[in-house]
Parts: sequence; C-alpha cells; structure tokens
Amino acid sequence: MEKREDVRILAIESSCDETAASVVQNGRQVLSNIISSQIDLHTLYGGVVPEIASRKHIEKMNQVIEEALKEAGVTLEDITAIAVTYGPGLVGALLVGVSAAKAIAFATGKPLVGVHHIEGHISANYIENKQLEPPFACLVVSGGHTHLVMVKDYGEYEIIGCTRDDAAGEAFDKVARAIGLGYPGGPKIDRLSRDGNPDAVKFPRAKVDGSDYDFSFSGLKSAVLNYLNSCEMKGIPVNNADVAASFQKAVIDVLVEHSLHAVKEYGFEKFAIAGGVASNSSLRAAFETACKNQKIAFFHPSPIFCTDNAAMIGVAGYYEYIKGTRSGYDLNAIPNLRLGER
Ligand code: KG4
Ligand code: ZN
Repeated sequence: MEKREDVRILAIESSCDETAASVVQNGRQVLSNIISSQIDLHTLYGGVVPEIASRKHIEKMNQVIEEALKEAGVTLEDITAIAVTYGPGLVGALLVGVSAAKAIAFATGKPLVGVHHIEGHISANYIENKQLEPPFACLVVSGGHTHLVMVKDYGEYEIIGCTRDDAAGEAFDKVARAIGLGYPGGPKIDRLSRDGNPDAVKFPRAKVDGSDYDFSFSGLKSAVLNYLNSCEMKGIPVNNADVAASFQKAVIDVLVEHSLHAVKEYGFEKFAIAGGVASNSSLRAAFETACKNQKIAFFHPSPIFCTDNAAMIGVAGYYEYIKGTRSGYDLNAIPNLRLGER
C-alpha cells in the first residue's frame, strides 16, 4: 500500500558506455533498473569511443527513462526527485544524462540532485545488504577508478588510497587485449582464468613508495607484455589461461593486502567492494576468505549492481536528497569531479 511519505527517486546514469535509468523507493528498494549497454558497438574499436558514446546516449536516453518508469509502475507524478550522475566520466556522455535530468526537473518542478559516480558505486552495496550502514571501508575498483574509501557516514567520504597510474579495470582491459581477448577484458579474463594456473607465471606485486594504501598497476601490465614478447622471441608457446590467471592473482593479491591492512589500521568492522571489477569471481572469493579470517563483515553488490547502472545513483541520490542536497538548473557535467566535492 502506498504511504504518503514514500520517497521515489528517478535516477539517470550516462557517464561512460551504459545508458541507464532506474526508480528507487525509500533508498533501498529498486523498482526498476534499465540498462542499455553500448558494449557491442565499442567492441568493434577495442574500447569506448567518446563521440559514439555521446551519440548513442542521445538516441537511447528517453526510451530508457520511459522504460524505467513503466517497469516501476509509476509516472513522473509519483517521483519525488530526479538524481543524475554529473561526474566523473566522459564529458559528452555525462552531458546527455545531466541535460535530460534538468529538463525533467524543470518541466515537473521536482528537485534535482547531482550525484558523484563513485558515491553511486559505493551505495550499490545498500541495495541487497539492508543492514549495512556506515561507517565502513570500501574498495572501489572499476574501469576508471581504484579507490580505497572510508565511508564515514552517508555522503561523507575520505579517500585512504588510490591508484598512481592505471585503474584495476584498465589493467584487465589492456592485458586482455594483449592476449587477444578483446574488449571489455575483465569478464573475459575472469572466465579464462578458471582454466589457468595462477602460480604459473610470477608477476610483480607492486608497492608504492611511502604509501601503504596506494596502488600501481602499470608495472604489472608492462611485466605481462614483456613476458609475452620474450616468449615470442624465444619461440616458447604461451598458455593464455595461465597468463590470465597469474595476472589476475597479482591484481587481487595487492587489492586484498592493501584493503585488509587499511581496515585493520583504521579499526573498521565492515568492508565492502564496488565497481565493475568487484564482479570478478576470484576477487570476491579472495575477499570472502580474507575477511572471514580477520572476522570482518564483508559486503558486495550482485554483479548487475557492480558494473554501471542507475539504481546505484538512485540510492546515493536518496541519501543526498534526505540530507537536503539540491542542484540548480546550472548543474554541469564535471569530467574530473573529486569524491566529496560538489
Ligand atoms: O564500473 P564499470 O562498469 O565502469 C566504470 O565506472 O569504469 O567498470 C567497468 C570495468 C571494465 O574495465 C571491465 O573490464 C571491468 O570493470 N570488469 C571486470 C569484470 N567485469 C567487469 N573486471 C574483472 N572481472 C570481471 N568479472
Ligand atoms: Zn562506474
């Protein structure tokens, strides 16, 4: 039965190559989650082509929003506020979602709430873990980001560590290309690794001088490329499954070690993962075991809420909305928006 105080957020996400819209009720109930992926289109080019992404977002945006409302069984009248990702991401892609959200907010007179994409990824954990509340530590690993974040409260974050060069997902994508798997590499390496030996090739576990919590993946990527080149020059056949599994293990070892170290040092009892790479099956298993051993409660979203989606923006948008965050019609796309900045 409908309660008058129900808060329904219509959320829009278009920061990269997914056009997505969702209706989220009272922060944690996802009424619809529509995602139109452009992956097939970008696969032809081996990665996301920003111009093509923007154009596709324009084509799909209205359709995806209409579907999200329809699947939720609501109309714009039933919506309390409009939430939209305004950064970080590809500027042309972000602009499509921001413009659509502003137009709907203006036409309906409903409040507009700009949401940080990473805040969205972190908030994806609230959807299926109804008992999860801050404070907790969260590792955000996606195609563009590798952040170890202290979630002090809803909407209050402090970055403990981040990558100095490539993001974890970027490393997966580059190594996948090198062994001929194509884009996007993460899920393909995840699958191929199941047939490989993670101890077959010794790849480096990079440490960043002077920081226990920062990451660096470009050295690992180079080590894989050097290994492939040297095998080719010596005429040694390469076992791609072994390379994939060994690379994946090197990434996961570093992510687990740094994260658990931070959780212990900062005294957290709860730890969560988020972002596209968080859907990696071996990574989830490794964190599951490590957290169990250290008696830390471990949380993760289902894979569909790990990769880009609008439900996570609806959840983050809800908590921003009830805190009183409002954006004006001058809301702009900010491609390098920092977490915690507005
Ligand atoms: O969060 P996301 O959809 O977009 C960004 O905000 O970047 O993350 C996409 C990234 C890609 O690099 C993709 O290769 C990686 O997440 N990814 C995975 C897996 N599924 C997606 N990486 C490892 N294992 C997976 N199963
Ligand atoms: Zn993302």
